[in-house]
Amino acid sequence: MTISSSTDSKIQILPETLINKIAAGEVVERPASVVKELLENAIDAGATDVHVTVKNGGKDLISILDNGSGMSESDAQLAVERHATSKIYNEDDLFRISTLGFRGEALASIASVSHFELLTCNDENQGGTRILIKGGYLEQLSKIGFPKGTKVTVERLFFNTPARLKFLKTTATELQHIQQHILQKSLANPDIHFRLTHNRQLLLNLPGGQGLQTRIQQIFGEEFLDTIFPVNHEETSLLFSGFISFPSKPRKSRRWQYIFVNDRNVKSPAVNHGIYDGYGIFLGKSQHPAFFLNIQIDPTEIDVNVHPAKTEIRFRNSQLVHTILADQISSALKECASRRFFGREHSQSQMS
Ligand SMILES: Nc1ncnc2c1ncn2[C@@H]1O[C@H](COP(=O)(O)OP(=O)(O)OP(=O)(O)O)[C@@H](O)[C@H]1O
Ligand SMILES: [Mg+2]
Repeated sequence: MTISSSTDSKIQILPETLINKIAAGEVVERPASVVKELLENAIDAGATDVHVTVKNGGKDLISILDNGSGMSESDAQLAVERHATSKIYNEDDLFRISTLGFRGEALASIASVSHFELLTCNDENQGGTRILIKGGYLEQLSKIGFPKGTKVTVERLFFNTPARLKFLKTTATELQHIQQHILQKSLANPDIHFRLTHNRQLLLNLPGGQGLQTRIQQIFGEEFLDTIFPVNHEETSLLFSGFISFPSKPRKSRRWQYIFVNDRNVKSPAVNHGIYDGYGIFLGKSQHPAFFLNIQIDPTEIDVNVHPAKTEIRFRNSQLVHTILADQISSALKECASRRFFGREHSQSQMS
């Protein structure tokens, strides 16, 4: 498109730094959004060890160190540019997304509203790269010694967007949001070791590699395992596995509900309603199931590009998703209830 401009135009193309700030408004709502985006980058980079360090609920400092692929110097420079990504290359890729990120704007957005430092290295023989950006302006680009992996440090978040800064809540509330994101990611990725240090205190230490059941136990305790049982469905175009609460152990809140679609933590009315319908009569008034369900579906069957925060997805055939889940959850619960009734071992319930 050719853009003509004249001196009497009221309309102007906005400067890049302002465009980034506007984009940041959608992606970076609070410190926890920064944590979420940086965790997703670490996971996409194949990290097996991710350490999150925060000060004062992330309001003063957020730092995430990973041992993933790292970046070369030229990639590091591109990574902080808007619309720069290694995760999709063309329009078709947008409809078969298999990574958590794909928009190519998280780092640029975060860097436009903070003091931002990127340390990264993809080849220890070549050395690492340090990039320092303040409020969207590049301050420094240098070489440094750094092990393979990436560390992003974000200080003084929203220092140049006072309106957003005012909306931040107490340290305890912001920390709680951060913890919630780490727990979500750790449940979706039980292979990865996650740690959270807050004001120099180690709050979470979740070693990886022992499967979802161990991860649930690490987070919710041994006794919680007595209230859930495994489910596994592998036959139709929608595969799912995970744990759901025993019909006799409903909960009073929705706190223990986690849905992952292709390893992404999402909100999905189709999945939620399917599970609740599956429970049907097993749930009384104000009762809720606990569930940790990992759904695997052909990426072309879902649309992740619904909202910049990427927490919502649309299914091409949401009715089918609903029906499969409702049917399968319902039969798993009936089978489980009858096993318990006849006093047989319940913990190995499997669905076909
Ligand atoms: N921790 C990391 N390790 C290795 N590479 C990274 C890391 N973080 C970012 N990158 C690289 O930088 C690019 C830009 O990251 P950024 O988060 O801005 O965009 P994205 O992840 O591609 O998409 P989205 O905006 O949806 O997150 C990524 O595509 C990836 O190639
Ligand atoms: Mg990203």
